[in-house]
Amino acid sequence: MTETIESLLKEQKKYYPPEEFVRNANMKDPQIYEKAEEDLEGFWEELAYNIDWFKKWDTVLDWQPPHAKWFSGAKLNASYNCLDRHISKHGDKTALIWEGEMENSATYTYRELLDATARFAAALKEMGIKKGDVVTIYLPMIPEAVISMLACSRIGAPHSVVFAGFSADALAQRMNDSNSHYLITCDGYFHKGKLIEQKEKADIGLENCNCVEKVIVTNHAANAIAMKEDRDIWWDELIHNVDSECEPEHMDAEDILFLMYTSGTTGKPKGVVHTTGGYMVGTNVTSKWIFDLKDDDIYWCTADVGWITGHSYLVYGPLSNGATIVMHEGAPDYPDKGRFWDIVEKYGVTIFYTAPTAIRTFMKWGDDIPAKYDLSSLRLLGSVGEPINPKAWLWYYEVIGNSHCPIVDTWWQTETGMIMISPLPGLTTMKPGTATRPFPGIKASVLDDDGNEVPEGNGGSLAIERPWPSMIRTINGDEQRFLDTYWSKWGTDRYLAGDGARRDKDGYFWVLGRLDDVIKVSGHRLGTMEIESSLVSHKAVAEAAVDGKTDEIKGEVVVAYVILEADAKASDELKQELKEHVVEEIGPIARPKQIIFTDDLPKTRSGKIMRRVLKAITNDTEVGDITTLQNPAVVEELKRKVNELR
Ligand code: WT7
Repeated sequence: MTETIESLLKEQKKYYPPEEFVRNANMKDPQIYEKAEEDLEGFWEELAYNIDWFKKWDTVLDWQPPHAKWFSGAKLNASYNCLDRHISKHGDKTALIWEGEMENSATYTYRELLDATARFAAALKEMGIKKGDVVTIYLPMIPEAVISMLACSRIGAPHSVVFAGFSADALAQRMNDSNSHYLITCDGYFHKGKLIEQKEKADIGLENCNCVEKVIVTNHAANAIAMKEDRDIWWDELIHNVDSECEPEHMDAEDILFLMYTSGTTGKPKGVVHTTGGYMVGTNVTSKWIFDLKDDDIYWCTADVGWITGHSYLVYGPLSNGATIVMHEGAPDYPDKGRFWDIVEKYGVTIFYTAPTAIRTFMKWGDDIPAKYDLSSLRLLGSVGEPINPKAWLWYYEVIGNSHCPIVDTWWQTETGMIMISPLPGLTTMKPGTATRPFPGIKASVLDDDGNEVPEGNGGSLAIERPWPSMIRTINGDEQRFLDTYWSKWGTDRYLAGDGARRDKDGYFWVLGRLDDVIKVSGHRLGTMEIESSLVSHKAVAEAAVDGKTDEIKGEVVVAYVILEADAKASDELKQELKEHVVEEIGPIARPKQIIFTDDLPKTRSGKIMRRVLKAITNDTEVGDITTLQNPAVVEELKRKVNELR
């Protein structure tokens, strides 16, 4: 009991950054918030000077809700900002430290990374790839992934990185949606010592892809693969006879930099479109102020390049600041559970950015594992992907940060491109569990369904009140979905984030989780309907409803309620088969934890699944009013089935 009270008190405690941190912080002007409010465009314009432009903008912001154009008329190149401009002063500085799954490693100086990028960019060009052509990248966490992204941006070809762990089908779906004619992949890679045959997976996906012309394959695991004549070419051969130089394309600020697919509330993932100028300005300054990047930092973001975090805070933000980044291929528990701390010690990592699910996992593994390593180089810690519970926050703060590293709990989304709510580590008083305040220039609010601000302390729906430079521009090929998803609830000048939140008396935002049919499994975003449509594509399944169940480590896990076809027989084998089916269709991250066979689902009289009721059944909470249900009896029956599994 006393322990609970103690920990409650601790959770409500405020935490201040160490004095020395405050003194040296990149952003230590407490007036910065007001300054941004006084002249919003002037604020962003000044920050735009942190980026190198070939041509200056005519206007800072052209806002025709919900369409924003930032830095119109300006010309720039993202790879130039990440590489070329650092060469004269920092050519020999380490840009990238790569730590492989097999404990092999490599480093690239800025000059070396530029050379590799320029050569590969020249090769892509020679292959016929032109400005505007979408290039799909299906690579694990190897330097070639970063080089590919930067090479694409160098020649003005939007990249679409597909998480290497996604299935063949998921790859095909994304390539078709973006009409991508080019794929960059590898022979294979190792995950926890097991070979993943990436090229084979890609080949299977490409069978359902009529747009593909060329496949570039980098040699990584050296496993035997089939190369298709006239279509497939080895990376090494491709760069063999090309120029080592490639002038960066002068891109319009509003030219597309990349597409990033993410899950929404329908069965189909959406291709979030990000453009060049505003995205670079936004990710550059947030990296500099929130991660407090300094010249001698060793910065490690554990996110995969297959997610937005890998784009904004492994590649574009840090490299545009000339930082030294660590990139790790592999898992936190391979070859053992000390792997992450081993890397921190080995390279003297100073800034470490990871996800709450990882922190909770480390916590479960025990304090004695990090205790074996020297973590004294760390000076700042970050968290992203889902709410971090105060207990995990405190553990991170005390055990990993030795009670002297500020924690930046950063709230943002694939769509926002950059961090939107977060402490500024030299300024903000921290409270465990809250992402604190919106970044200067960002205005967030908590609204009810009618768009009125809810009273302090009450829950509501998180909104962003005005445009920001790195905001989503549209959904690839589906402008209507863009309008419907984000700009229809309260009109076109307030962005619907899709998260529940409340604001406390200090004006801090507590993000509570998704309000829509999106779930977060280990920080990965999944659409319940995506998994449902994968389940019903199995011949034994007549209908399916998927839900997220609260989990202590993963945040949420997938629970699937399945109605079988009349001729199918419920069995444990079939459960297993259905789980594997989802893995094949989407990828291992979507694997249902539990499958519950049922004859019925909670539906309204018009036949729609009542998600609210389902959620209560899955998580054993108060079901509430069920009088509008077609079949109220199903609630008790499903509750019983769920409880049997507990
Ligand atoms: C959703 C966006 C943005 C990088 C990775 C995820 C949740 C993200 C936090 C945080 C509470 C968070 C939200 C958001 N989320 N960061 N610090 N506290 N929730 O990007 O896959 O687009 O997911 O992640 O629910 O809407 P994403």
